Amino acid sequence: MPITVLLGVQWGDEGKGRITDALAAEADIVARYNGGDNAGHSITVGQSVVRLHLVPSGIFHARCLNIIGNGTVVNPVNLLKEIAEIRAAGIEVSPARLRISRAAHVILPGHLALDAAREAQGGIGTTQRGIGPAYSDKAARVGIRAGAMDDPEAFAAMVRAHTERVNRVLTHEFDRPPLDVEAAAASYAEAAAQLRAYLDDTTHLLREALRAGKHVLAEGAQAALLDLDHGTYPFVTASSPTIGGVMTGLGVPPQAISRVVGVAKAFTTRVGGGPFVTELQGEMALRLRGTGANPWDEYGATTGRPRRVGWLDAVALRYAVWINGVTELALTKLDVLSGLPEINVCVAYRYKGRVLEDFPQDTAILKACEPIYETLPGWSEDIRGVRAWHALPANARAFVQRVAQLAGAPVRLLSTGPARDQMMWLEGVQS
Ligand code: IMP
Repeated sequence: MPITVLLGVQWGDEGKGRITDALAAEADIVARYNGGDNAGHSITVGQSVVRLHLVPSGIFHARCLNIIGNGTVVNPVNLLKEIAEIRAAGIEVSPARLRISRAAHVILPGHLALDAAREAQGGIGTTQRGIGPAYSDKAARVGIRAGAMDDPEAFAAMVRAHTERVNRVLTHEFDRPPLDVEAAAASYAEAAAQLRAYLDDTTHLLREALRAGKHVLAEGAQAALLDLDHGTYPFVTASSPTIGGVMTGLGVPPQAISRVVGVAKAFTTRVGGGPFVTELQGEMALRLRGTGANPWDEYGATTGRPRRVGWLDAVALRYAVWINGVTELALTKLDVLSGLPEINVCVAYRYKGRVLEDFPQDTAILKACEPIYETLPGWSEDIRGVRAWHALPANARAFVQRVAQLAGAPVRLLSTGPARDQMMWLEGVQS
């Protein structure tokens, strides 16, 4: 059955965008199943660099239909800005190429304000895109679904009522100024008038496409360790980036999924708060993060925040591979490790004198864990752009082999540089 899932198996920013871009070349449909415009990656199109936040990466492939699924949350104003940016690069974004599920939930001005207010009181380091408050309203059954944009006037009334409700919370609980209710309603009504042509029943659309044998790429945002259930709660996002999110976030049956590609970096990064067992400070952190001079250095694509960096954590990786049923790994940024005399990989945790081989579900335990490293020899050769397995130094190959073994999944794709073609498909470096 023809669904390929692509998801992150660390804390996000694994370089999923470029892998999706490569896989989208073979897909008829690319569908986002979770999250909102908290995600972000840049794609170079000719002379322009376009930042995608919510629009699926298939938009850059003329034959792809792109779906924003019911499991996502949509900020209509920001989505229109994103569409405008894509169009400015000469790419067509018509309703024939992009569909928004009528059941996706809308991120409202009140959600953004509440996210900011909570963060100001000492939050978890969110992207402040209103994600948590929007999903909270969805679960509380007081959210507004995208389908409501069909009628911009009625939609404006809903936005007005929501903003008034949030204003009471902002002023009483957070001691913050109220939002301008009329401005919020007007801007959302205008956005609705532009977006309503994109609304669709995407569950039925996907069913028909799958029945017709079309190939669907389900594109995950964020990653396994940021999953609301399986991540490092409460330092997580509010959606389900893991495999279950594909079924609930698109309305497709599990039997339709034939391939699950887990994307991992050759080291680890994380933005925002929360435990990070292999985190590095000092010289080595600077070395892995980069200076920020290059677009591929480790700074958040949505917020510009410097990412926390550390060695590859194989305990966390093994856990993410298992819960997602990853059938193959894509390992990115191998070139960043070139020139290091030794490379550490965390193979277990030490917790209160005990050795843990399994990723603990309790965040307090994870916070108290220390890494147990296996040290592998590095390589001095510059491998940027190397596109053949046997052209890699033996130590680089041994590193990839060891990662596959520790993770419990074969590595099928390896990226060795930031450019679109600096990657190689492998027969499968076996675990
Ligand atoms: P939120 O999704 O904005 O609510 O943020 C919750 C947590 O997820 C924070 O630690 C964010 O830094 C993190 N996060 C959200 N989106 C991304 C992403 O696309 N990449 C990496 N981290 C993310």
